[in-house]
Amino acid sequence: MFYLKYRPRTIEELDNLKVKEVVKKILSAKSMPHAFLFVGQKGTGKTSTARILAKAINCLKRNPQGPSEPCNNCKNCLSIDSFSSPDVVELDAASNRGIEDIKNLIKESNFYPMSNQYRVYIIDEAHMITNDAFNALLKTLEEPPKSVVFILATTNQEKIPSTIHSRCILINFGRASKTEIVSMLKKIVKLEKINIDESVLGLIAQHSDHSFRDATKTLEELVTQKKLSYEEGKQFLGLLHENFFVALQKKDLGTILSWIEDFNQSGGNYKHLIERLLDNLRLALLTKSGVKSEEDNEIALDVKDIVILMKLLTEAYNNLKISPIESLPLEIAVVEYYNRKKL
Ligand SMILES: Nc1ncnc2c1ncn2[C@@H]1O[C@H](COP(=O)(O)OP(=O)(O)OP(=O)(O)O)[C@@H](O)[C@H]1O
Ligand SMILES: [Mg+2]
Ligand SMILES: [Zn+2]
Repeated sequence: MFYLKYRPRTIEELDNLKVKEVVKKILSAKSMPHAFLFVGQKGTGKTSTARILAKAINCLKRNPQGPSEPCNNCKNCLSIDSFSSPDVVELDAASNRGIEDIKNLIKESNFYPMSNQYRVYIIDEAHMITNDAFNALLKTLEEPPKSVVFILATTNQEKIPSTIHSRCILINFGRASKTEIVSMLKKIVKLEKINIDESVLGLIAQHSDHSFRDATKTLEELVTQKKLSYEEGKQFLGLLHENFFVALQKKDLGTILSWIEDFNQSGGNYKHLIERLLDNLRLALLTKSGVKSEEDNEIALDVKDIVILMKLLTEAYNNLKISPIESLPLEIAVVEYYNRKKL
């Protein structure tokens, strides 16, 4: 799997430029902060960066004078990479969120590291921690043991209590930009010796929801399916979705059904198409309700219509697996949409 094979293992390999700079600065500072909050969308490198940081501060070849990359070769680096280090603990707060879990962790963090300079606790999905447990953690974050580093990672910054927030150094991973994603994809393509149109990499980036992980997975999918030209890539990714909404908004059943027929003829992938359509609708919903300000959202539907379409498309998506004709669920959805609008 590309996304595991090409997980960044050094600071230099991180493709999000801002994060790279911030991490370098932290590592070159005289004293090491003891609590971090990594926030950012899924697949933007929070877990990868947490592991790099854990290795960098524990690497046996560490240069105490300045910022130093993990060597990825010494005993400490290797044991962290293989999850066998007794001093680097990764905890998924989705399943260890209660007060007892956190109390145990706090108790444990008071012991000296066994074979590293620092004990590092990487707490993923940190927003899932319960209020009681956050409160218990508060004191420890305020006065952490000298040899402990906490890294809290979350996709939901707003669910982290401000008291926790203010005790952590914040690193914002945001969303991966198109340029950053393309530069990551180029590296993989080169190393894997894949002969793919460079324009396809741009398409993938556009289709990746600003996530490095999604982009890597899509690249792998295209390679497996041998869709390496621009046209093939475009069809496979169902990027024609923009035109779908244009056709739908013409309010003429014939127009939208022939759009679907064209999509059918070109061998498009319905699963991808519907996923993209739903993504777009969701974004439109968030934009319309003021949660997000997105410049490039062109769906001119009101909230009521957006929700109707979301329901119908979700149903169509679920029916894809059992439908004898691939195009049918989507066709039924658009007919049903027009029917409901007449009511
Ligand atoms: N900065 C990056 N540069 C290059 N590739 C990256 C980067 N960040 C993530 N990736 C790719 O995405 C994959 C997932 O990254 P990671 O697990 O670190 O993301 P995450 O932010 O922790 O995601 P989640 O919120 O879903 O846990 C990596 O295995 C790698 O393939
Ligand atoms: Mg993660
Ligand atoms: Zn090392």
